[in-house]
Amino acid sequence: MNIRQFRYGTDGNLGYLLWAGGEAAAIDGVAPDEILEFAAAEGLELKYVTNTHEHWDHIHGNDALLKASDAVNITTDMMCRIKILKLGDEQLEAFPTPGHSEDSIVFYFKDDEGGAMLTGDTLFNGTVGNCYTKDYELYFESLQKVLRFPPETMIYAGHDIFSYTTGVMDKIDPDNPHLSDYKDSYSADLLVTTLGQELKVNPFIRFDDTALDDYRAGLGMPLNTPYERWRAMMSVH
Ligand SMILES: [Fe+2]
Repeated sequence: MNIRQFRYGTDGNLGYLLWAGGEAAAIDGVAPDEILEFAAAEGLELKYVTNTHEHWDHIHGNDALLKASDAVNITTDMMCRIKILKLGDEQLEAFPTPGHSEDSIVFYFKDDEGGAMLTGDTLFNGTVGNCYTKDYELYFESLQKVLRFPPETMIYAGHDIFSYTTGVMDKIDPDNPHLSDYKDSYSADLLVTTLGQELKVNPFIRFDDTALDDYRAGLGMPLNTPYERWRAMMSVH
């Protein structure tokens, strides 16, 4: 599977084109002109237009992509039902990850290098999304599904908020030995991370990391279970 990241607007919205065997899918295609231009230059047929969730900042490119192509719009609801999109001989799969929004899904594909996930606003470089559903237990379950993937899995998120999230890490976890390399790895040309890297630095998915115990103890919330430790951290999210 091939993947290309596109950037839109001042709040770091990230959209993606995935393709294999000449067939492509736009996921959160926020930069439709650039995506169409790229697809034409590469000789790709845009077959699907879909999203990690249907918040406006992720779907506003859909209409332009659909008008300019014969692509089919696969809603998040449909994607949850069909689970798999075929591109050439390869498969793009999705599973529901409600929490940030009710309809959030994560896409993934496997390859020889360990595969990749498109996490939308469920998991970012250095943080997780806002829990707009207010169903924290459900969001926590969704994160468990994401964390089951191998550490080498590449993570492509829905926004570049890297400078904000590393600022939060500086406050929460300033002595983290991995933080400096993590910051140095930043490139605006391609914002990508791995699950393994996130498990070293992202304070919002390290439920069992004792390095965060002192910080969490200051939050005045119960800390007896992984969920409670996550919920406490989300109080400063
Ligand atoms: Fe969102």
